[in-house]
Amino acid sequence: MNTVEINNPLVKHYLTLIRDKRTTYNDFRDGVDKLSLILAYESSCELTVENKKISTPLAPFAGKELKQEIVLVPILRAGLGLMSGFLQLFPEAKVGHIGVYRNELTLEPVRYYFKIPKLKNKKDCTVFILDPMLATGGSLIYSIEELHKHGLKKIVVASLVAAPEGLKKVKRKYKDVKIYTCSIDTNLNGKGYIVPGLGDAGDRMFGT
Ligand code: PRP
Ligand code: URA
Repeated sequence: MNTVEINNPLVKHYLTLIRDKRTTYNDFRDGVDKLSLILAYESSCELTVENKKISTPLAPFAGKELKQEIVLVPILRAGLGLMSGFLQLFPEAKVGHIGVYRNELTLEPVRYYFKIPKLKNKKDCTVFILDPMLATGGSLIYSIEELHKHGLKKIVVASLVAAPEGLKKVKRKYKDVKIYTCSIDTNLNGKGYIVPGLGDAGDRMFGT
């Protein structure tokens, strides 16, 4: 399975909080922040470790350490909300940014920014794309395409809410991209919004 829906009581609790239309933008941000930590932990299953011999104060120990370079790529704007949890768990990660927004009529992604850091070994590094909403899948497919063009092949996606329509589209195109989401929702409405969803994530997060 290349999609993991995190089934956890804490996730359900905070997801309900941010779905609630009465939630203020500061509480919304706080809920997203907490969920980002859980998403970072769950998706860290995709990382690999190598052996590391150390000594504890009592005995030698055959330990492990993370092997690969990690790059976090939030999709602007709403992806920024997921940064804090990932940076807490992966403090040495490099950070790239992809700026895309959806054209409101066509729902096609429009790019306005793209910057990826210099990497020692692109082939072995793991990229976490951070975007709370996976709706039609257009923004994500565009981002994966661009990262592939830059030689980045190992891609993991962290989302809060995903629509089945978008998931299907992404999975059909990219079988080896692993997606972690806090919820697979019911459907997309006529305007491309996820139902029940949580509304416009960027607007709710930034109070716009
Ligand atoms: C939202 C969201 C995703 C995109 C998902 O961004 O953060 O990037 O929509 O929709 P899709 O799967 O149909 O492409 P939006 O375009 O609203 O930009 P914003 O984050 O700047 O508000
Ligand atoms: N983007 C959002 O912020 N919310 C949706 O429901 C769909 C796309």
